[in-house]
Amino acid sequence: MKHSNNNLTAALAIGIGMLATGTPANASAAVDGKAVFDKNCSVCHSVAPPPKTAPPILPISARYHQRFSSRAEGIKYMADFIKAPSKEKVLADPQAITRFGLMPPIPLTAAELNAVAVWVWDQNTGGNWGPGSGQGRGAGQGNCN
Ligand code: HEC
Repeated sequence: MKHSNNNLTAALAIGIGMLATGTPANASAAVDGKAVFDKNCSVCHSVAPPPKTAPPILPISARYHQRFSSRAEGIKYMADFIKAPSKEKVLADPQAITRFGLMPPIPLTAAELNAVAVWVWDQNTGGNWGPGSGQGRGAGQGNCN
């Protein structure tokens, strides 16, 4: 008898990531990430500065691109944060908690979570908030490990 159930959880997690990478932002059959954002997030998050009651999406997205070289990883991490934010998970802007407080958990389906995380991730592709060449501008960050 083989017990390979451990692999199931991992496979599911990877599956969620693959959904993310395999779904163009406007696939009509999929959940529309922008619509999820407008409905559930835009009350607190503006897309570009000035902020409402949370950091704007563009700088958050840029920071995620800085931190994750893998799109699937970044999206997975973000979806998990949206579902259950915690101080330990914050990586976009630790100062934001002091300024705005911790984000409340947003109750969404797995598909909505994924779609909205994909949408947020993709906001950075214009590059105006991007870090450009990636690493190298991080002085002063990362002392919270
Ligand atoms: C009630 C207000 C509120 C709502 C609604 C809200 N957020 Fe936030 N969000 C915040 C605040 C405040 C922060 C900054 C503090 C923190 O990171 O918890 C934040 C931070 C974030 C971050 C940065 C996490 C990190 O790693 O630092 C992401 C990504 C994010 N929000 C996405 C979303 C998405 C997507 C939605 C909608 C599904 C959403 N938020 C809805 C208030 C909100």
